[in-house]
Amino acid sequence: MQRGLGVCYYPEHWPEDIWPQDARRMADAGLTWVRIGEFAWSRLEPEPGRLEFDWLDRAIDILGQAGLKVVLGTPTATPPRWMIDRYPDMLAVDAQGRPRKFGSRRHYCFSHQGYLGECKRIVMALAERYGKNPCVAAWQTDNEYGCHDTILSYSAAAQAAFRDWLGQKYQSPQALNQAWGNIFWSMDYASFDDVDLPNLTVTEPNPAHVMDFRRFCSDQVVAFNRAQTDILRRHSAAPIAHNYMGRITEFDHFAVGADLDIASWDSYPIGFLSDRLEATPAHKAAFLRQGDPDFQAFHHDLYRAVGRGRWWVMEQQPGPVNWAPYNPVPLAGTVRLWTWEAFAHGAEAVCYFRWRQAPFAQEQMHAGLLRPDSAPAPALAEAAQVAQELRDLPDVECSKADVALIFDYASAWAWDTQPQGADFDYFRLVFAWYRALRRLGLNVDILPADADDLSGRKLVLAPGLFTLSDPLRTALTGCGGTVVFGPRANSKTANFAIPVPLPPALPGLDTRVVRVESLPPGAEIALEGGGRFIHWAEELEGAAPATLRRADGMTALAGTGLLRYLAGWPDDQTLRAILRDLCTEQGIETLDLPDALRTRQAGAQRFWFNHGATPLSWNDRTIPPAGVIWE
Ligand code: GAL
Repeated sequence: MQRGLGVCYYPEHWPEDIWPQDARRMADAGLTWVRIGEFAWSRLEPEPGRLEFDWLDRAIDILGQAGLKVVLGTPTATPPRWMIDRYPDMLAVDAQGRPRKFGSRRHYCFSHQGYLGECKRIVMALAERYGKNPCVAAWQTDNEYGCHDTILSYSAAAQAAFRDWLGQKYQSPQALNQAWGNIFWSMDYASFDDVDLPNLTVTEPNPAHVMDFRRFCSDQVVAFNRAQTDILRRHSAAPIAHNYMGRITEFDHFAVGADLDIASWDSYPIGFLSDRLEATPAHKAAFLRQGDPDFQAFHHDLYRAVGRGRWWVMEQQPGPVNWAPYNPVPLAGTVRLWTWEAFAHGAEAVCYFRWRQAPFAQEQMHAGLLRPDSAPAPALAEAAQVAQELRDLPDVECSKADVALIFDYASAWAWDTQPQGADFDYFRLVFAWYRALRRLGLNVDILPADADDLSGRKLVLAPGLFTLSDPLRTALTGCGGTVVFGPRANSKTANFAIPVPLPPALPGLDTRVVRVESLPPGAEIALEGGGRFIHWAEELEGAAPATLRRADGMTALAGTGLLRYLAGWPDDQTLRAILRDLCTEQGIETLDLPDALRTRQAGAQRFWFNHGATPLSWNDRTIPPAGVIWE
């Protein structure tokens, strides 16, 4: 596998006479990929039907002549202004009923058929023109589905499409009423045309209604993306990617990924630390210039799963960004560390965002590999260093990990719909389990909720899983290792009702959740021998023996065999201790890593990453701040 570096480039932002020089400098720095085109619709089609592709021909040609491989983006995240004149009702509508207006990007509703038709038209024109161009070595569909909160739309187009979706799913309004439990509060419908979108209700809408709306919205993204991949595939053999984001759960990335060849994501570690992560002020201060030590790795592992092994970082932060509340400069060496961490997790390519800092418009304060005056920004040298190191290092490989963690988008929608405790957040829960595994020095594979093969795994973890899928239920029997379900697992039917027999109803584990409670910050349930549950705790009944008890004698961890159920949300230290014990039982070796040190075994190489701002001694070696070593 040839792994490489790349950069995001916007030829339409710069005078044409500097393109050759840009291309040469990219190649000189050791970059091999360049992503272009994803926001260029107004230049590709300045007026409806007037296509101007000559400039793009020349740009691709110049980049190709410099030896660069092009990732060509479809421009559908930025419909031009004339599109809104054509389809004024194509704008998405927020939950308050307000249109999301023109003047930035992603101003479209996934359900609008007129806009979808326009997208197919422009994608077709690009595919026909560049599908066989040898310089176009990959495609990207649209840009960051879900960015700026753009999956849920409450437009008239969405309402019509939702009614249709419900009609297909339930066939009769009676079946829908029965499934949702609409007799409660006299919410029965006589016709699918009576069903509104679940916004602007007096108090909370029926969770079953919301859950179906969430499923529908996700399906709309899948269909929108598939409309593009179907066209691209007819004209091109180049692989197709989409660039997903960090901690976006509003659509099922696995379902979108089924139509792609490569999953990629956009990694902004410092922005995410301040913007997208629950952490103490001390933690945020310690990792201010490096980003959280686990957040990026989690997404690397997630997108490796979404891409069925093939994944990239399509955008890598190269310096301060513009969009977080505060935007510090990365510590020297950190861009190299982020890049190497991605490769150690199996990335095929890492592309920096962006080539040159744009002196105009919304992202003028966002760093690039070059400054606005074209002088090198500090990240360029770090990128060049990695390019050199990549040439010298034998390939990194990813083999199956002993430990697997299930991540499920529907579970995120479910607990978002019905948190029951203000800080019960599915991503936060799963990420806490991931972090614990990383502190134990383990490689982790992430699996979808319909995983049908657990063979070869020694430890499989499924906290907070909304419903147990049939494939996973069957796969449990073929797994020789320990499988641990966590709080709220399998606690609802697909129709968002409490099942009877009571959950978790796991085959062969006699335990039932008979009462649950959520806990405000500061409240906790003590466990025997130290440790505690925070946020959430459950009371169990049944004959399954306890591996671990609460201080009040109730079962905290049920089962002593290969199937376990954890009846609460442990704090980080407790969770680490529980998982360490389970690893020991399964003969999985663990480490006890300091807060800032992480490791990953990749084929013959073991990588060590110091995410801290001070040097770290480990195994008789000193790893500098933001340092990476391998052995
Ligand atoms: C990403 C996006 C890019 C750019 C970047 C800035 O979310 O895909 O187009 O806006 O953020 O950090």
